[in-house]
Amino acid sequence: MATLSVNVDHVATVRQARLAKEPDPVTAALMAELAGADGITIHLREDRRHIQDRDLSILRKTAKTRLNLEMAATPEMLGIALEVKPDMVTIVPEKRAELTTEGGLDVTTKVEAAKLKEFVTSLKEAGIPVNLFIDPALEAVKASHRIAADGVEIHTGTYADADINADNGERRCGEFKRVHEAALLAHKLKLKVHAGHGLDYSNIKAVAAIPEITEFAIGYSIVSRAIYVGIEAAVTEMKRLIG
Ligand code: PXP
Repeated sequence: MATLSVNVDHVATVRQARLAKEPDPVTAALMAELAGADGITIHLREDRRHIQDRDLSILRKTAKTRLNLEMAATPEMLGIALEVKPDMVTIVPEKRAELTTEGGLDVTTKVEAAKLKEFVTSLKEAGIPVNLFIDPALEAVKASHRIAADGVEIHTGTYADADINADNGERRCGEFKRVHEAALLAHKLKLKVHAGHGLDYSNIKAVAAIPEITEFAIGYSIVSRAIYVGIEAAVTEMKRLIG
């Protein structure tokens, strides 16, 4: 069964709406772990719109599972990662104006791939495993392998956004196929295969049935449901669906 890393960014989003102390993503992470989360994911963005440096440093000391730091490939973030040493890093693209991460990294153009390789090498030399967040495209998987990342996180956002009730579900099926094929190739190339973005209680089952995917990073849907039923019930139900 694939593991679940719970992304608590959106707990911090609510806190930052008032620049207050609550709700605290650190507390939410610990409660998610108590409910069975296998890991905690946070994205320290350049603009610090949700997760703050303080959250990262406390979680580094308190998280009992695996702490996955999502970050852009910038010198500032590299410095922070090398200092804090999370259990793993997922490199993601970042645009200031986006509401959330909009797509996978550009891993195929020469200049970008060379830059990513430098980041991956520095992190790996410090003993931190690195995944690259990529679109479900075979070329992106091959490029991640060339960059020598430990693994990939396959972007499931386009799969999740494809309306299952439109066009006989054809687009959804096509997007599912892309995720599946990317997962198969990544597994064949001995990359770790994670997936995430836009996954919720109604679309998780199909992708959870892809055995090559060993971890899902899920945030928004779990935090949204937790508002109604609490973190424990929200995490438990997602774990049940993954299983
Ligand atoms: N994986 C990555 C790389 C992300 O950027 C995000 C969003 O922060 C997620 C997973 C979680 O996506 P969602 O909040 O839609 O579940």
